[in-house]
Amino acid sequence: MRKAKSEHLPLFETKSGKGLIPFRLFVASTLASICFIFVYRVRFMPAVPLLGNNELEADLGVRWTAWIGLFLAEIWFSFHWLLVVALKWKRIYRTTHKQRLSLRYDEAAFPGIDIIVCTADAKIEPPIMVVNTILSVMAYDYPSDKLSVYLSDDGGSDLMFYAMLEASRFSEQWIPFCRKFKVEPRSPEAFFDRASEPIDDHHSSMANQYWTSIKKLYEEMKARIESPTKLGRISEEIHKQHKGFREWNFVSSRSDHQTILQIIIDGRDAKALDTEGQPLPTLVYLAREKRPQYNHNFKAGSMNAAIRVSSRISNAPIILNVDCDMYSNNSESARDAICFFLDEDKGHEIGFVQFPQAFENLTDNDIYSTSMRLVTEVELPGVDSNGGPCYIGTGCFHRRESLCGKKYSSNACQGEDWTSKNDVKIEEESVDEVEETCKVVASCTYEENTEWGKEMGVKYGCAVEDVITGFAIQCRGWKSVFIKPERAGFVGLAPTKLLQSLIQQERWLGGQVQFFFSKYCPILYGYKKVSFGLQLCYCHYALGAPNSLALLYFVAVPSLCLLKGISLFPKLSNPWVIPFVYVFFGNLIYSLVERLCCGGTCLEWLNAQRNWLFGRITSYLFAILDNILRVFGITKWSFIVTSKVADEDASERYKQELMEFGATSPMFTILATIALLNAFVLVWAVKRFILEEQSLVIDSFALQIILCGLLVFINLPVYQALFLRKDKGRMPSSITYPSIAYALAPCFIALYY
Ligand SMILES: *[C@@H]1O[C@H](CO)[C@@H](O)[C@H](O)[C@H]1NC(C)=O
Ligand SMILES: *[C@@H]1O[C@H](CO)[C@@H](O)[C@H](O)[C@H]1NC(C)=O
Repeated sequence: MRKAKSEHLPLFETKSGKGLIPFRLFVASTLASICFIFVYRVRFMPAVPLLGNNELEADLGVRWTAWIGLFLAEIWFSFHWLLVVALKWKRIYRTTHKQRLSLRYDEAAFPGIDIIVCTADAKIEPPIMVVNTILSVMAYDYPSDKLSVYLSDDGGSDLMFYAMLEASRFSEQWIPFCRKFKVEPRSPEAFFDRASEPIDDHHSSMANQYWTSIKKLYEEMKARIESPTKLGRISEEIHKQHKGFREWNFVSSRSDHQTILQIIIDGRDAKALDTEGQPLPTLVYLAREKRPQYNHNFKAGSMNAAIRVSSRISNAPIILNVDCDMYSNNSESARDAICFFLDEDKGHEIGFVQFPQAFENLTDNDIYSTSMRLVTEVELPGVDSNGGPCYIGTGCFHRRESLCGKKYSSNACQGEDWTSKNDVKIEEESVDEVEETCKVVASCTYEENTEWGKEMGVKYGCAVEDVITGFAIQCRGWKSVFIKPERAGFVGLAPTKLLQSLIQQERWLGGQVQFFFSKYCPILYGYKKVSFGLQLCYCHYALGAPNSLALLYFVAVPSLCLLKGISLFPKLSNPWVIPFVYVFFGNLIYSLVERLCCGGTCLEWLNAQRNWLFGRITSYLFAILDNILRVFGITKWSFIVTSKVADEDASERYKQELMEFGATSPMFTILATIALLNAFVLVWAVKRFILEEQSLVIDSFALQIILCGLLVFINLPVYQALFLRKDKGRMPSSITYPSIAYALAPCFIALYY
């Protein structure tokens, strides 16, 4: 039922970003400088060594090789920099008009939303955390009878089922409480954590009592959920509470069981009401069938099973996907999202609405650069201007039909009627009958000979399945939009250790490499299906990993050449030096200004540079190695030994912004080796050139010495961790000694051979 008022005002607005002109001028000048660098490299290339054996020739050979290598690295960097430019060339920012939405539509005309939360392991993802996620989305500021929440539990855990049961009872109190006091955020844990005193002093003591009683209820529920979690099993007493527990009598292990499906709150049931008599959202627990002989396709398989089950129960036209380790921090996100879908002018072509991830537990200067400030402030708005952001696997509202493989067609969608898409619920069937029919679609064999995992639902077979899924949706003609409301929509926990952060990057980048070489390659598959700009944006991420090779060359070879007395850059007194200095320092300064404009700090910028370097020379490299090994059929190589340091210490160090190195990992060996190598070279260069006053020689090597000096500066926390720190976050000696040897060996070779 559309109300007639304000018919033609759009429900969302799109503004272009500021600062595009300085950026483009900077790009033009950098581009010119890069051309000069190339001219210099070609004009002053050392002579090609002829076949010969005398010493001079050998020396020439080294010189030539080093030069060519550097040239290739510079070409690669320039190419990748162009992809970055494509990403940032234009940026758009979206805002919604929720006011207009409520003026124009009755709440009864809002589309239904099916919320899918995936969880995989009750040990790693504690049930109480998942409960908070579930409650935060059940309490959305949205008509409750239009919301259905599905937990797809790949761990098949009765602990998780019990937690859902508790959540469903607590929601009867929690949702009216949220409504009454306009609670934010609506995850009880986060809410009670933050608001330590009653919400509003002006309220009567009745309100205080209410507040205290809800808090007490929450804490009791938390205790009830946590005690069986600690025990690892459900007591007899709890077992009797719900017939659903009987299902676990047939479960032999978490990887071998039948489909378990329980509609915990049935939204159709007239008795499913909260304490104020309002309807409750539907809540469904699902553990799809698992059998050892079937491939389960991880999270993508779990999502697809939930998509199918939801289509039999509530079949809402909008699907929201949230990870279980984050909660809704903004109860209006659902309204924000439907402002896009319901917009009369442009809504019909929008396939999905992506919110950024925000994080709690960030330190003041974001020591591991996990806030992704630039990604959400600059890069994704840039991708949005090219046709829409990628799907990042969480915090994303999908149109069910586009997710399920429908192609966009401009006629079919115009003037769509969202109300008719609701209410496909099978009103006559009883809950038990619905449960039985749903079990079929969550079985192992259901997907055989179907397009699920290929053209329908989330795609299988890649570590970045979400990105590929989003890309395929865009290739079917749909647009996507990126929205970052002032108050973050979805908040999760960021990695609090360096190694966690590096491993996360490795997985993501490794998946991106796989994406590039898959049949969904952004260049080939996307050709003529999406804009060229969007293809470049996807390539920027998909081709991130090779940066590691170019960067490793840059952090090692110029320093070693310094030892050997080979000059690789123009002299400081030579005008050719200008483009080199401009490109290098211009980019550094630009990135600093950019970060400050986005609300960052100088120290945050420094940390970002450090993590940029660390990530590229380790995670990005391993992402390539992972893929090469996969080609040879080696998929499971456990490379990483995670630390078992007591966690209280570690989180204390995290709060003090001390980098955490306390683990044995080849990643740290690489970091330490590169840091030490440059330290040795710098010490040697200072002694040789500055103390021995060879000012003429300095002229030739100035840039190499500066580069080496900057690397030493950026690596200061590594030296500290190697030699100065005494805490458990220091570099283990099993890394220190080999790294010293690995760093010294090439130095000796460069000096004496
Ligand atoms: C996250 O930060 C909050 C507040 O600073 C703290 O209470 C909580 O223990 C932290 N959680 C983790 C997992 O570090
Ligand atoms: C979550 O919402 C609260 C307000 O309820 C806000 O203060 C906080 O900054 C938000 N969290 C993030 C990470 O943006």
